[in-house]
Amino acid sequence: MRSFSILLHALCPTIIISSAHAAQQKRQESPGLLINPPGFFPLPTPHAPRPEPLISSQPQSEQFTLNLSNIQGDILISPSAVNIAFSNSGLELLLGVTNLTASGDPFAAGQASDAFNLGDPSPIQNNWIPGFVDTAALHGVFLIGAQNTSLANDVLDQIISYLNDSIVEIYSLQASARPGDKEGHEHFGYLDGISQPGISGFTTNPVNGQVVIPPGIILLGEEGDPVVRPEWAQDGSFLVFRQMQQLVPEFDTFLTNNALMIPEITTLEEGRDLLGARMMGRANRAFPLSDNLTLAADPNLNNDFNYTLTDDNSLCPFASHIRKSYPRSDLDETTVDNLHRIMRASTPYGPEVTAEETASNTTTFDRGLAFGDLWL
Ligand code: HEM
Repeated sequence: MRSFSILLHALCPTIIISSAHAAQQKRQESPGLLINPPGFFPLPTPHAPRPEPLISSQPQSEQFTLNLSNIQGDILISPSAVNIAFSNSGLELLLGVTNLTASGDPFAAGQASDAFNLGDPSPIQNNWIPGFVDTAALHGVFLIGAQNTSLANDVLDQIISYLNDSIVEIYSLQASARPGDKEGHEHFGYLDGISQPGISGFTTNPVNGQVVIPPGIILLGEEGDPVVRPEWAQDGSFLVFRQMQQLVPEFDTFLTNNALMIPEITTLEEGRDLLGARMMGRANRAFPLSDNLTLAADPNLNNDFNYTLTDDNSLCPFASHIRKSYPRSDLDETTVDNLHRIMRASTPYGPEVTAEETASNTTTFDRGLAFGDLWL
């Protein structure tokens, strides 16, 4: 996504979402707001044929399409898009009910109650943005995607003027794709957003290695959702948002100090990149040992792998980020892990690392990943 804003907000008892604005968005025609750097699969187009539902992994193709009777198709070709998500307390206020969900339900409990399991340093009050801490006071979030920051700000102004004093802004964050050839790369330097599940009914031609999952794994109440949902939840999803700070100069220093050296074979730079690749599970630049730039830039090759050949740590360590977050063939891909697949939509926030920060190996400016994902 080119530019992205998030606004956490608290509701006063009523909220109006303007349908006129939605209609206006539908009419706008322009290049899409999503980025498409080398290595990403081609974005859906408005002119592609309507897809047939799929239920399993399909062979390769070069085109992706979306169901254009669905709003998502519209979002991709618009210069801006707005997504609104409510917390449990926000929904209760909006619907005028209490006990919307059963006590102890993770949605009602909120992310803060799970901070320990997420590995967040304790107490969270010392480490979390204050606006994220009080789950009950946080009623929802607007995610605004746009082709540039100025357009994102315009949309934000429109939302605020529509809703006036029926909302209170708790926190906002602006994020955007990194510049030039870093587009699509997160701040540590790795291309991000390569691996996404395909969705049956939307994804007609998956790239190699992409597993197509039933829509109910992402969309509530659709085929494959193992839970019976209330009517208001139909075709919604759960949005998880995390703002994660990245200490880039410190990360680079760690890699340099712990470079994986093979005497008389690796240079310091290669050893450093090799350690980074082993931590992430993906490489961030060419090193002659095993990296292959042609493969990396081909969406039909760069995600076409699993771990069946390496049931040990010899190629991709168990502890690498990608192997932990999606173990692929380490688990039965038709069952357990697919029920926990997520759609990731992360955007870097904060400025590029400055020369001063690199020289001092110390972060001065806040930067990281605005991480949003959808799941059941
Ligand atoms: C600052 C924090 C993070 C960074 C820098 C980061 C970076 C990356 C990168 C570079 C990739 C490989 C590119 C790709 O396959 O698309 C990746 C993959 C992935 N990440 Fe993250 N990530 C972060 C946080 C998270 C979090 C919090 C989660 C889950 C809750 C997560 C889940 C995943 C998943 C599921 C994949 C795909 C794995 C695969 O299919 O092989 N990431 N991440």
